[in-house]
Amino acid sequence: MNTQTDFDLVLFGATGDLAMRKLLPCLYQAHVAGLLHPQGRILGVSRSEMDTAAFREKMESHAKIHIKQHFSEQDWAAFLQRVEYLTVDVTRAEDFRSLGEAVHGRKNTDNVVIYLSTAPKFFAQACENLAAVGLNADHVRVVLEKPLGTDLATSQQINDDVARFFKEEQIYRIDHYLGKESLQNLLALRFGNIVFEPLWNNKYVKSVQLTIAEQLGVEERGEFYDITGALRDMVQNHLMQMLCMTAMEAPKSLDADDVRDEKVKVIKALKPLTVESVNENVVRGQYTAAGGVNGYLQENNVPADSFTETYVAIKAEIDNERWRGVPFYLRTGKRMAGKVAEIVLNFKDLNQKLFENSVVAPNRLVIELQPNETVSLYMQVKTPGAGNRVERVPLGVDLGKAVAGRRAEAYERLLLDVIDGKLALFNRRDELEAAWEYVMPILDNWAQNTQAPHGYAAHSWGPEAARSLLAANGDKWHEEQ
Ligand code: BG6
Repeated sequence: MNTQTDFDLVLFGATGDLAMRKLLPCLYQAHVAGLLHPQGRILGVSRSEMDTAAFREKMESHAKIHIKQHFSEQDWAAFLQRVEYLTVDVTRAEDFRSLGEAVHGRKNTDNVVIYLSTAPKFFAQACENLAAVGLNADHVRVVLEKPLGTDLATSQQINDDVARFFKEEQIYRIDHYLGKESLQNLLALRFGNIVFEPLWNNKYVKSVQLTIAEQLGVEERGEFYDITGALRDMVQNHLMQMLCMTAMEAPKSLDADDVRDEKVKVIKALKPLTVESVNENVVRGQYTAAGGVNGYLQENNVPADSFTETYVAIKAEIDNERWRGVPFYLRTGKRMAGKVAEIVLNFKDLNQKLFENSVVAPNRLVIELQPNETVSLYMQVKTPGAGNRVERVPLGVDLGKAVAGRRAEAYERLLLDVIDGKLALFNRRDELEAAWEYVMPILDNWAQNTQAPHGYAAHSWGPEAARSLLAANGDKWHEEQ
């Protein structure tokens, strides 16, 4: 990819954590790789009173430390030349006049990106103020960071607010999981290989597991996390996108709307949960102290009686031709035994009685998205020696080693796509709202439920109840198989 379009990127929340840790370091990587137009400019804005020199100083101490590769002082100095700063308080219309002048004052800006890395409560006002100075014209794109709502109604409200000033094709809703190479590779794996696609359905697949496990706890984000929880933080967005990419039909093309049409069909085909059925199909967990590590309730800024979930497991079903009858187990958690994001397809048993030990372990396809990018197909081979026993071995590929080329961080790819006006890796409104609709009965059930979440020891694989969720169907989580 080569972004040779000139651009002005206006970064709201420029002094914030996301900008310093991810966005600016990723833009640096794109700069070093020669992917940014030479005149492309980054205009950081936030409420903090400072000038460009002070902002660049702040980047020295807060952004530079997050650059993990390809760093040189010379490149960094050249990158800083692209960066300017303007104080803008989202609530002050007059600040937007200076912003408008700063952007319109450039000669060749036919491509303006406004990245709202701020709390969503500011989106409406920011959009209104942007529109007042013409910064919602057709050549302007607006990027919205999550969380986009805390439930269906608030998400609709945000979308309505933004839609008053921007057309849907100008709106880029970020889910950084979609920027991950490994998730995009799923489409190549599925639709570029005849050996997989014919087996990718309920005739051959017994169950599917999607996991995003993290080893870290909530760290310093207790206050945010306690009003958010794992369902809103990870399931409604990242896990849902993994589900879509795993289960969708082949799109007509890789154009934005063709891809998004197919993804939204998956979410809409999910068998709806009800407040009652949540009890059998969803497990809410919370980590407890173990091995010298704090439990969730002992974390900073977390109320001692909090019911907020740090773990969720869901047994979902997609009610369509391809998948009817196949359980999709989705789970995510903080403070789990390992850090891994993976997709596991458990194939059906062949019921083949030819071998001495019959078929003890059916085929399994494990696609690890991170930290490693691997694909392993577990298959039967004969155990050497007399007799006819079989055992299961992995046939695997490590994509990091097998495929040459720089693997960019998710945000780099997404930023370049916005600059280039490519919408395929961003959420469309209907997709986002369908995902909220699916999780609403879970939120409603939990709001009424007086039972505390199931405890699980810090650095374990989650609560016992999540094991039972699978056992009912004769299944086990991947690490237990
Ligand atoms: C973010 C969540 O969206 O994703 C975090 O807010 C979480 O709580 C993070 O840690 C996980 O992203 P990744 O790319 O590290 O798997």
